[in-house]
Amino acid sequence: MNAPHPSSPLASTPAAVPAVRKAVVPAAGLGTRFLPATKATPKEMLPVVDKPAIQYVVEEAAAAGLDDVLMVTGRHKRAIEDHFDHAFELEQALAAKGDTVRLDAVRDPARLADIHHIRQGDPLGLGHAVLCARNHVGDQPFAVLLGDDLIDPRDALLSRMLEVRERYAGSVVALMEVPPEQVHLYGCAAVEPTGQDGVVRVTGLVEKPAPEDAPSRYAVIGRYVLDPAVFDVLEHTAPGRGGEIQLTDALQELAAVGTVHGVVFSGRRYDTGDKADYLRTVVRLACDRADLGPEFVAWLKEFVAGLADTGTTGRERSAA
Ligand code: G1P
Repeated sequence: MNAPHPSSPLASTPAAVPAVRKAVVPAAGLGTRFLPATKATPKEMLPVVDKPAIQYVVEEAAAAGLDDVLMVTGRHKRAIEDHFDHAFELEQALAAKGDTVRLDAVRDPARLADIHHIRQGDPLGLGHAVLCARNHVGDQPFAVLLGDDLIDPRDALLSRMLEVRERYAGSVVALMEVPPEQVHLYGCAAVEPTGQDGVVRVTGLVEKPAPEDAPSRYAVIGRYVLDPAVFDVLEHTAPGRGGEIQLTDALQELAAVGTVHGVVFSGRRYDTGDKADYLRTVVRLACDRADLGPEFVAWLKEFVAGLADTGTTGRERSAA
């Protein structure tokens, strides 16, 4: 994993650009958009079909060869620690029953990577959460994966970003073209071509711009491969939009000196941070599952046909 890209000018001197091994997963948000479900359950633990959202993210990191994952959590996040730990009684009960399928499902999260947890303390923003990882990460490049964005494992975005880091060094952000009316929901990048397909040089970044201030339609989605130089910048990054220390603002400083590239992603991304998108994510992933899909799709077709016929929901029909 993380071998130099064959076309990389650095391919003959791999030691010049250290391989990326560590991932940081900020998970300290309050999840207010999903209250009351998130009153006592971290939003990262909400199930997407039958796995918590954060497990998909850790699986993605592991699939890209990152074997060390640091969760930056806050208060009320014990469930995340428990999920990636052993569950002794449960494992014993399943083993006694010979239920190896469920036993594996219970054991898998702890086997994905070497998982660590630290607390952010004060929720001062994404940039601050990343800065909290400094001691753990040290002087090596690292990945940041935001839990609200799920990337379909068939569209290996992170591996592509690691290749781009190996080729160009510096930091790499994932970009997705979005409709102009959505740009204000994201960090937005000014870009220049590199001559390499799907890879751009990022010349500027602005966090959640008004449509008239947006430099492009390229939105930063929740995957980053960061050079450790970002930590020194974050140390002096002043609170920005929303009074929070923004990762985008620190990356803007690095983009200004030409050390940020972007991978343009056009694959399947699922946004679980928004209620309607969360529902779409669950339905899409359920449809794709070999064990659930066929029966669920048949039901879904019937359900949707019923909606088209009557223009009402099942609940309205049964109440009528
Ligand atoms: C964060 C970042 C933003 C990025 C987004 C991707 O915003 O600050 O730059 O575009 O994640 O999901 P949030 O969605 O946490 O407000």
